Amino acid sequence: MMGDPDWHQLFSKDGHRWRMGVRRGELREFFQPHDESGRVCAERARWLADDSEPYAALLPEATAALRETVRLAQTLGAAMESTSSPHEQLLALGRAWEADFAWMHPDGNGAHRLVGGVVCFPSSWSLREKLGQPMAEVHAPVPGLNDRLARQIESLFARQAPDDVWLRDNANFSRDDQLNYHPSLQRRRLDAHITPAEFWVRIERQLLVKLPESGSILFGIRVEAYPLSRFLADRPLARQMADYLASMSPAAAAYKGLTEARPVVVEWLRS
Ligand code: HEM
Repeated sequence: MMGDPDWHQLFSKDGHRWRMGVRRGELREFFQPHDESGRVCAERARWLADDSEPYAALLPEATAALRETVRLAQTLGAAMESTSSPHEQLLALGRAWEADFAWMHPDGNGAHRLVGGVVCFPSSWSLREKLGQPMAEVHAPVPGLNDRLARQIESLFARQAPDDVWLRDNANFSRDDQLNYHPSLQRRRLDAHITPAEFWVRIERQLLVKLPESGSILFGIRVEAYPLSRFLADRPLARQMADYLASMSPAAAAYKGLTEARPVVVEWLRS
């Protein structure tokens, strides 16, 4: 296990804004198996077997990164045969790792583009829709993010050395603890009528590393859902989370699907 996320950083006392929030981390710890039950990989295999098209994608610019990532996975102990077609390799990697992953490749004009990956547990976005887009376009639906962070993100990637392993966490909110929030599933949204059992903090743990040969950025994502009860049981943390939610701009709250649920949840956290 990775231990708890840093709640005090995620729900910062300074209030909500879009943050880089990167810290150094370890490749092996991130990608090694964390789920002894095997449920995460079993679920990944199921989504990929039903119809891999929404979850797995590979542009020609990602072929080298795929090869390098398969080798990396083998080095880290994943059991993967490396003889099949690129598409089969992609799916095999998607089944072998608990983490989702995507590649960003530099386009020669100062931007990194999303060129492929396997994302079985997206937080309400579709890999297919974003495929081929530069980072700034990928982030365009997040109100105000590009003004604050687009240049920092590109320069982090441009300057990143293969030994620089960066971690960051995102917090989102959902109505259940399902991992796969692909938009096509039309999962139930938060609203003013939720019960406390229907509010979940959805954490994405992310890793960024530059692959030395292809020069592509490998982006890893792990998702976990925490019930509201966990925060209610920790009074100081609950109060901090309430202040954080209350500090969000209406646009940020709307982006996170919180417009209707926010007053209710803030009240629970404060009472
Ligand atoms: C240092 C690098 C990065 C930073 C600082 C960053 C930051 C963020 C932040 C703050 C959000 C808003 C999420 C939230 O809090 O609700 C977001 C959303 C998102 N990010 Fe990133 N991100 C980074 C890298 C990436 C990469 C490499 C990808 C590649 C796929 C990516 C894909 C997305 C997507 C798909 C969303 C959701 C956009 C939507 O709703 O359509 N991010 N990112």
